[in-house]
Amino acid sequence: MNTKHAFRGPWSIGRVEIQNRVVLAPMAGVTNIAFRVIAKRFGAGLIYTEMVSDQGILMKNSRTLIMTTVHPEERPLALQLFGGDAGRLAEAARYIDAHTDADIIDINLGCPAPKINKIEAGAKWLLSPERVYDLYRTVRQAIRKPLTAKIRLGWDDAHRYYLELAQAIEEAGGDAIAVHGRTRAQMYEGQADWRAIAEIKARARIPIIGNGDVRSPEDARRMIEETGVDAVMVGRAALGNPWILYRIARYLEHGERLPEPTAREKIALALEHLDELIKLKGERVGVQEMRKHAAWYLKGLRGASRFKDEAQQAETREEMRRTLLSYEEAECIETSLA
Ligand SMILES: Cc1cc2nc3c(=O)[nH]c(=O)nc-3n(C[C@H](O)[C@H](O)[C@H](O)COP(=O)(O)O)c2cc1C
Repeated sequence: MNTKHAFRGPWSIGRVEIQNRVVLAPMAGVTNIAFRVIAKRFGAGLIYTEMVSDQGILMKNSRTLIMTTVHPEERPLALQLFGGDAGRLAEAARYIDAHTDADIIDINLGCPAPKINKIEAGAKWLLSPERVYDLYRTVRQAIRKPLTAKIRLGWDDAHRYYLELAQAIEEAGGDAIAVHGRTRAQMYEGQADWRAIAEIKARARIPIIGNGDVRSPEDARRMIEETGVDAVMVGRAALGNPWILYRIARYLEHGERLPEPTAREKIALALEHLDELIKLKGERVGVQEMRKHAAWYLKGLRGASRFKDEAQQAETREEMRRTLLSYEEAECIETSLA
């Protein structure tokens, strides 16, 4: 392997040490504590929470505060905040700094959702490196934990300020930046621009985490080779497939190619995920949330489409379990006939 780049081994953000180069992306509605603990077991070196509202924290909203709970097994953990005002974000960060076991505080500077941008939050920050500089100065002064940013390349093709943004974050005391190689206007379309990520990395003194379109161990290695990033962040490829995390980690560390999970392994993990979600949210909401995960676990499995549809109708733990188990049974019968 190319030795110019670091594929393995501990690295750090501030004083937080991270054991490998694989990072689980923040995903709203997905990376709650149930999925995060699973992802940790499956080898992610660093894990991000879903984005958490600064307002919710300041109002002591009970559902928001539950989102700030940290499981000892998932550390090191980066807790992501979103908000549109530096003073309020600093107050919320101060709360997280003092009252939770999160290791790193991250701010979302990339969310493209209109209702988030309307409150000046998420990707709206990308339009003003000066505002971002003030934000990072303000939050840095309020907290002791490492402070990071997750950015996109810009608002749209006419406003790609990624170099200025990265410089502002670093100069104002940010400790690392995760870069999703798309603009807000691209949403999740087109190909992530890894060349822009390489430009940021070439100028930065703080760690840069590359993000966008890493779907396989080979992609992860190529991203590090092409951009020089300190770690790769994986989002959609881990949905229903946390195996990708350790398959990437092992490939980066030892060049070893591990097999994809079997259908049986996927179903077993889906059942466990279901119970973790129910523990966290209660049966009704847990099962509702499990519907999308069930579709992701079943994605690409032979003959699964009928069961995916059935999972969307499940209302109770029993119904969801029955659907998943009946897929397993059907799959096994078919395999044994094959
Ligand atoms: C369902 C979903 C929810 C997401 N929620 C967040 C979020 O809360 N905060 C954030 O910074 N990015 C969020 N993202 C973006 C991802 O973190 C990541 O940047 C993006 O999916 C690109 O990486 P990928 O190609 O590996 O999926 C979300 C993406 C998805 C698919």
